[in-house]
Amino acid sequence: MTDLDSPPFDHAVRGRFNAWFFSALDRYIDRVARPLKRIAFDGLDAARVVEIGPGVGANLRYLPAAAELIAIEPNLRMHAPLRRRCADAGITLTLVPGYADRLPLPDRSVDEVICSLVLCTVPDPDAVLAEATRVLRPGGRFRFVEHVAAPSGSPRAQAQQALHKPWAWLFEGCDLHRDTASAIERAGFTRTTIVPMRPRGSIFYPVNTMICGTAEL
Ligand SMILES: C[S@@+](CC[C@H](N)C(=O)[O-])C[C@H]1O[C@@H](n2cnc3c(N)ncnc32)[C@H](O)[C@@H]1O
Repeated sequence: MTDLDSPPFDHAVRGRFNAWFFSALDRYIDRVARPLKRIAFDGLDAARVVEIGPGVGANLRYLPAAAELIAIEPNLRMHAPLRRRCADAGITLTLVPGYADRLPLPDRSVDEVICSLVLCTVPDPDAVLAEATRVLRPGGRFRFVEHVAAPSGSPRAQAQQALHKPWAWLFEGCDLHRDTASAIERAGFTRTTIVPMRPRGSIFYPVNTMICGTAEL
């Protein structure tokens, strides 16, 4: 879990690199991840959506028009592009420079919590999922698209093992071999749909074992 007094992070060069990387490759990543995002974000029509780790706004295109987005984003370098894109898209942004393991929201106060490529990076996915279940109303949904550990012994699992350390350093904590599906399954949702999928045409070999879906409280 994040230290309660931790300020939002700024890894200088790496933070800038990540903001640049996710901006520059936004369209490409979206093309690759679109089949998963269509499943995860299908029927997302709430006026107010909480997104954890929105980065530079990859999921704005899946939000309803004129939605209000409450964005929990600790990387300060992501903030300016996220603000710009929300303004361009007509989305009302409340940007919280904090961590998803303590959401500044009352219990049972929101209908939708979404994320993509974030549970791989947060220090404690169980704590983040506990926060999501705390703030969601009964019947509310957690929607996710994540890369996960490849099947044990597979060539991709070996690549994940080999690249684990440099990858985590470059992508600010991203863990290549997390069992995120199990974390979602044990988080206390009443109905969980987890779809495993290998994105087509992706050049990012180590992260091409993915899951997407919804978990309803
Ligand atoms: C790989 S990026 C994905 C960004 C975006 N969701 C996307 O799909 O392009 C991971 C994001 O999670 C954010 N993040 C890292 N630790 C976090 C935490 N404890 N709480 C919330 N967000 C976090 C990072 O700052 C970054 O924006």
